[in-house]
Amino acid sequence: MAATQLKPCLVLLLTFSVLAFASAISRNRIKSLNQIREVNRKGPYIGLITVIATEEDAFFASGSFKPDPKFPFIDLSGRRFRFGVVRGRKVVYVRCGEGMTNAVAATQQMADLFDIKGIIHFGIAGNTNNSMSIGDVTIPNQIAHTGLWEWFNTNGTLDSADVAQLEIGDYNVPKGNGTNLLGHIGYMEEEYYSVAGEPNVAESLLWANISLQWLQLASNLEGMKLEQCVNSSLCLTERPKLVVGLRASTSNIFLDNAAYRDFLFQKFGVSSADMESADKLVKWVSSDSNKRAIRFSRKPRRRQCC
Ligand SMILES: *[C@@H]1O[C@H](CO)[C@@H](O)[C@H](O)[C@H]1NC(C)=O
Ligand SMILES: *[C@@H]1O[C@H](CO)[C@@H](O)[C@H](O)[C@H]1NC(C)=O
Ligand SMILES: *[C@@H]1O[C@H](CO)[C@@H](O)[C@H](O)[C@H]1NC(C)=O
Ligand SMILES: *[C@@H]1O[C@H](CO)[C@@H](O)[C@H](O)[C@H]1NC(C)=O
Ligand SMILES: *[C@@H]1O[C@H](CO)[C@@H](O)[C@H](O)[C@H]1NC(C)=O
Repeated sequence: MAATQLKPCLVLLLTFSVLAFASAISRNRIKSLNQIREVNRKGPYIGLITVIATEEDAFFASGSFKPDPKFPFIDLSGRRFRFGVVRGRKVVYVRCGEGMTNAVAATQQMADLFDIKGIIHFGIAGNTNNSMSIGDVTIPNQIAHTGLWEWFNTNGTLDSADVAQLEIGDYNVPKGNGTNLLGHIGYMEEEYYSVAGEPNVAESLLWANISLQWLQLASNLEGMKLEQCVNSSLCLTERPKLVVGLRASTSNIFLDNAAYRDFLFQKFGVSSADMESADKLVKWVSSDSNKRAIRFSRKPRRRQCC
């Protein structure tokens, strides 16, 4: 954050009250830790993450997830981590909830607490590429966080380190009519901390890469036949396709805006937009730098994207 360029008027202090139930909390924590130890004895697992209830319902309705009969779940920090198998592979599954805060919190917790080989995150996303359409599946190779902004008045000077710039006045209708007081936006890189880097030193990161090994596995799925119809009366006009290796964007923005969709495609070359892929930034507490999450998105998310 270019702090010197801002006019800091407020100091925001967030205080958290510590509840007076410390002893009950610590009893629960010990119970949870014992359960986690128990679960990890049966690991390693593949981590599975969805975002919203609709995605979870579809996943459960597919019948592919068979819950562990003896130890079906643990509730941690308000989320339910479920254990079971999918086609004979041991999995731990969680629904994280919408937005980047939820995605990162749930993924970091999964990565830190459970014996995980890798994470598959699947759900719906918005389409920003005209060659893709509703029902297509994308498995991106790189993901950019496009919601980390510095936002200036029309006269403000953007930081030269910004990776892209959005001039809001460029979108005036009719074109060039007067000053647009919304000014302009600079896209900043992520401050990325990782187990592979030096402790307490952030790297600047725009593109989070998906593990090459997992992408190679995913590329075997290309060409697979996807369903075209929900039922006898509801069909897509074309058979959907699965594409591996495009770029994706993520931010806390639900996008239903054709102009911004085109901006993202032109500036970042991204083919999808979602609100939870920030969890790809979570790296394992492990020496294996290849362990990272991968995301499957089915397009589009509700009416996201035009
Ligand atoms: C848009 O999607 C198509 C696949 O449908 C892909 O071939 C093309 O490379 C994508 N464009 C960009 C800029 O990624
Ligand atoms: C931008 O600069 C001009 C010329 O100095 C000034 O008249 C105008 O009020 C400024 N606009 C904003 C939004 O600060
Ligand atoms: C700018 O917009 C105003 C208000 O809509 C309109 O009256 C004016 O004719 C426009 N000027 C130009 C140059 O388009
Ligand atoms: C991600 O992959 C690209 C291209 O394969 C590479 O140039 C870049 O250095 C990688 N980034 C990181 C952070 O590993
Ligand atoms: C097909 O599915 C849609 C959406 O779920 C539903 O509204 C419609 O009634 C279904 N039609 C038939 C014939 O089952």
